[in-house]
Amino acid sequence: MTASLLALLIFLAILAQVVFFAGFAFLRHWEAYRALREQLDPSETHAAAPPPPMALAVGDGWAGFRTFRVVRRERENADGDIGSFYLEPEDGASLPPFLPGQFLTFRLTVADPAGGAPRQLVRCYSLSDAPRRDYYRVTIKRVPAPPEPAGLPPGLSSNHFHDRVQVGDRLEVRAPSGQFHLGDEPAVPLVLVAGGIGITPMLSILNQVLPEGREVRLYYGVRNGAEAAQLDSLRGLAASHPHFTLHLCYSRPAPDEVLGRDYQHAARVDIGLLRRTLPLKRHQFYVCGPKGMMESLVPALAEAGVAPEDLRYESFGPASLAPQSSPAKEAAHHAIRFARSDQTLEWDGTAESLLAFAEAHGIAADSGCRAGACGCCQTRLLEGEVSYRQPPEVAVAPGHCLLCVATPASDLTLEL
Ligand code: FES
Repeated sequence: MTASLLALLIFLAILAQVVFFAGFAFLRHWEAYRALREQLDPSETHAAAPPPPMALAVGDGWAGFRTFRVVRRERENADGDIGSFYLEPEDGASLPPFLPGQFLTFRLTVADPAGGAPRQLVRCYSLSDAPRRDYYRVTIKRVPAPPEPAGLPPGLSSNHFHDRVQVGDRLEVRAPSGQFHLGDEPAVPLVLVAGGIGITPMLSILNQVLPEGREVRLYYGVRNGAEAAQLDSLRGLAASHPHFTLHLCYSRPAPDEVLGRDYQHAARVDIGLLRRTLPLKRHQFYVCGPKGMMESLVPALAEAGVAPEDLRYESFGPASLAPQSSPAKEAAHHAIRFARSDQTLEWDGTAESLLAFAEAHGIAADSGCRAGACGCCQTRLLEGEVSYRQPPEVAVAPGHCLLCVATPASDLTLEL
């Protein structure tokens, strides 16, 4: 063995010892660090583990109505007309998760504004927080702008929440449901577009996806900062999540609100704004707002080349947006007889559903979710057959149909 070979062997032996002791010391310190971190903040340890499966297949909730208690109320905007209601189940059992974007259906007994006997209403409100095991949260705006169908005063149920529902009150609630919800492609950047109170499902989506590090842009169209819900919280999320970009779009900013400081765009949300501000790559769009915004923006996004699977939308209020490609538009004409109203009308395929058709002709029909999820619009079908543009999420009794998702497959006679 030469002297140089011997020197090399000694050097390698020393190097191996240094690596061994350095690695051993690192492991000991790492264990100590993990133990300390676990003591200080157990949630961080859980955060390092794979997240529990919170997504829920539609229909995994409970059957019928379940009793909840209001455990907290919070004002959510400077105007004071948006409030959140935190609900815990009276039975104390843990809550099933839901898909962010879905809603709860409430059965309410409200005072008759005409002074008659209290009447029962079924109404749906979007969940506005990420899925949790201990409570649900809905966020509701007082006095929706358009009048409700069936001759009811505007905002009867929303104002009931604001004026009557207090902490400790009990509410009857159906399980979360709805087709407008977060998809399961976590790698695709999100563009959330909210108009007015359409922000509520977006809050739920944001609270779910931001901790996961997903790239998100929110375009929030309101008149000004006083109308906006959870404004401080949204600004805080934008400041603490570099992958989240907040675009506040004010159509009528207050005199003391400064462009660039308090809001980003002095405009409504439209396709031009999206074209100017979005990077050229694939996004998934979620749009929720008033009918006017939906009627202009959703077709414009489709025309701009957004694939149907990347475009989800939901309008609020008594009118909802027709699907982009509805075979019913070219459907045969049918005679629709409304037995109680003693009217026979011609269906020409331009209405999105039998509910919209009835309302357009002044025929009163109960409705809640307008999405086949609450059962509120179930009506006796005396003659004929219907088809459904989407499968109902509730069981439909024999001889009945759900007006909000049904179109005629033949001439019909409805009990209404
Ligand atoms: S309105 Fe809810 S199922 Fe039709």
